[in-house]
Amino acid sequence: MDSIIVTGNGPLNGAIPIAGAKNACLTLMPATLLSDEPLTLTNAPRLSDIKTMSELLRSLGAEVTSMQDGQVLALSSHTIATTKADYEIVRKMRASNLVLGPLLAREHEAIVSLPGGCAIGARPMDIHITALETLGAEIELKDGYLHAKAPGGLKGATHELRFASVGATENVVMAATLAKGTTVLKNAAREPEIVDLVHCLRKMGAQIEGEGTSTITIQGVDRLHGATHPVVTDRIELGTYMLAPAICGGEVELLGGRIDLLEAFCEKLDAAGISVEETEKGLKVARKNGRVKAVDVVTEPFPGFPTDLQAQMMALMCTAEGTAVLEEKIFENRFMHAPELMRMGASIEVQGGTATVHGVERLKGAPVMATDLRASVSLILAGLAAEGETIVNRVYHLDRGYERVEEKLGALGAKIERVKG
Ligand code: EPU
Repeated sequence: MDSIIVTGNGPLNGAIPIAGAKNACLTLMPATLLSDEPLTLTNAPRLSDIKTMSELLRSLGAEVTSMQDGQVLALSSHTIATTKADYEIVRKMRASNLVLGPLLAREHEAIVSLPGGCAIGARPMDIHITALETLGAEIELKDGYLHAKAPGGLKGATHELRFASVGATENVVMAATLAKGTTVLKNAAREPEIVDLVHCLRKMGAQIEGEGTSTITIQGVDRLHGATHPVVTDRIELGTYMLAPAICGGEVELLGGRIDLLEAFCEKLDAAGISVEETEKGLKVARKNGRVKAVDVVTEPFPGFPTDLQAQMMALMCTAEGTAVLEEKIFENRFMHAPELMRMGASIEVQGGTATVHGVERLKGAPVMATDLRASVSLILAGLAAEGETIVNRVYHLDRGYERVEEKLGALGAKIERVKG
């Protein structure tokens, strides 16, 4: 298994491009199943999760061709070979469950393995199931698989999600595009990745209103057609690299960066003493002066502070002046990075969903273990500012969500190398 070695090396300077969003691409790709015409995605990120989704879609009969060094994905689902999403692929990546809505909509049936829990929480699918049942699906659990069918097709309905789940919103919106009649989805998630999905579905001929608000209305149509769509900027990759100069000093420009994707996060950076300036090409980030100040953070659905930046923010808070309280409200077990940061000298107390971080002057390099995607990059950020060498083990998590991390951070002057294992 590969590991990454980072050595604290002073300020970072330069400009790096931000890729297309993993979590947008992972919901745009299954949208191919809704149409027998080709769907082309541009600005796709080069990530192992995208390869896993390609593998899953191919197993269902779709053609997926990666072009231009992986940045263009040509998808075509002329015929669906099977409606069964096998456990062997689904267990690798939870986002596999995003084929459920499209398969039900087009084929009126789907057999999708339940993904099981993961390092950050149990992550059940009850919200997806209840919502799709409201659209007329009959769903039962057999042998670890959800067996869903909608004889005669799905029917539009009004439904309020019990929680604004990102994945459930995506599944329902995709399913409802081909349902008979109108679907009104209340308490829908408002994440930019959902807005991006709706923009693409609209290009494919779907009739949808209200994306980016908590009520999305979908008027079912008979068929969708082909389209070409650029994947929206990855706000989590953006936020992660914005934290690099915040932690190490220096000035970094994030090409393609947009404040509107990360307003709550930018407000916290401002309070911590980090300046974020809009430029013609993106965002420029630097410390305003001296040591970063501790700020409290509560993770919330969009437009709140994203859970996917909590671990990286904790890395910043480890060396901030004062005490920061970080509350994780989305996932029940998303502090696995805290004990690893403590091995580097951080002072953190975790109680349930709250982590209290007492800032120390400097962290010290250590061998650490990545437990999930965002945790791994938080350890890299911490290592960039630590004294000496940090070895981050189990980096396959990192490759799921950050393309060419050594290249990007290396371009800013970071001392970072991958050791093949
Ligand atoms: N939940 C339920 N029942 C459900 C669905 C969700 O209880 O049926 C709970 C989950 O267990 C969790 C919370 O609701 O505690 C939020 O889950 P949500 O469904 O909103 O998340 P998701 O769709 O599974 C996506 C991203 C995650 C990101 C979350 C929250 C993708 C592929 N994944 O997951 O991204 O953390 O939204 O914003 O879009 C990551 O990229 O590192 C990552 C984990």
